Amino acid sequence: MSPAMVITRESSDGAETPESRYLYKGVKQLSDDGLHRVPDKYIFPASDRPSTIVEDQNVPDSNLIQLPIIDFAGLLGPNRPRVLHSLSHACEHYGFFQLVNHGIPEDVLRSMMDVSKRFFDLPYEERARYMTTDVQAPVRYGTSYSPTRDTVFCWRDFLKLLCHPLPDFLPHWPPSPVDLRKVAATYAERTRSLFLTLMEAILESLGLGILGAEKQDETEEEDMLKGFQDGSQMIVANYYPTCPEPDLTLGIPPHSDYGFLTLLLQDDVEGLQIQHQAQWVTVRPVPNTFVVNLGDHLEIFSNGKYKSVLHRALVNAAKSRISVVSLHSLPFSYTVRPSSKLVNETNRKLYKDTNFGDFLEYLSTRELKRKDFLESRKLS
Ligand code: OGA
Ligand code: NI
Repeated sequence: MSPAMVITRESSDGAETPESRYLYKGVKQLSDDGLHRVPDKYIFPASDRPSTIVEDQNVPDSNLIQLPIIDFAGLLGPNRPRVLHSLSHACEHYGFFQLVNHGIPEDVLRSMMDVSKRFFDLPYEERARYMTTDVQAPVRYGTSYSPTRDTVFCWRDFLKLLCHPLPDFLPHWPPSPVDLRKVAATYAERTRSLFLTLMEAILESLGLGILGAEKQDETEEEDMLKGFQDGSQMIVANYYPTCPEPDLTLGIPPHSDYGFLTLLLQDDVEGLQIQHQAQWVTVRPVPNTFVVNLGDHLEIFSNGKYKSVLHRALVNAAKSRISVVSLHSLPFSYTVRPSSKLVNETNRKLYKDTNFGDFLEYLSTRELKRKDFLESRKLS
């Protein structure tokens, strides 16, 4: 009997059973075992499943969204004011944009996707060496979000790498595939530099740029930019194997990202959806571009002017999918608070000060759902 056939529910007291131990091995294993049904543990409540509403047959691809396009090279030249305007519009109305002309060679992106794929192809025992429940570990391999806590599992396996400062973390990264450290380090450095330039532009788009600031105003923006130089960075490679019943489950349930910005690279398989105008819409993959989204910290810092947006990933029966996300914020020791320049008599402070400790405490007591962490930081 194949192990897939003995899957039943976890014992009612939540204790580990042979079945739950099997599920902890992740969805790559389930997919490789040739499962014909998804185990109960992966079945989302009907209201959370991918839409079953029949799309309008006369409107092709009616749920695709064209994200605002931000020309990175344009930010660095005479068109900067125009690009800043587009950036501010994208941050206010979409929370997402597509970054083009970013200057990172195609080969750096391709190698990162490729080495991630080869990591997930390693024998399970090798990947399993990096399984840990310690969310602050320099390397973490796992499945779903947090198998010991998730009531429903999602259909993804992941590899998380802490990246900054690189010399502290690199020696902990997996030594195989042999090129993983080198490729991921280059990728981390290149995406980090994009992030820094983007953050500087975003501060400026909020009217907080250091260039136009009065001398005595400079401190807050300069402090922020210095903070970002030392800021936290985590790379997450997500692997979504083929799924026998993609309509019943999700690759990642709706969530907003922690941090200021996320740079997402996806392969050519559709799956990422964002919430836009109260609808789930699909972001079509465009080769050699990044999908950038705003995280909760930027919503807090901008005092709600810019919003972090809910997004999720669907899976499919025909093709496996890979994405690599780079998550950026201030150093873990910093406190994030609404910018003093965006709080005044007409705009009251909307969010409490928050730090990584608050987030960990929040995580330790419940499952992370939707924008619940951010909601918990709102001032009533
Ligand atoms: C994430 C995420 C979406 C995707 O890792 O936070 O939202 O398409 N991923 O993989
Ligand atoms: Ni995300």
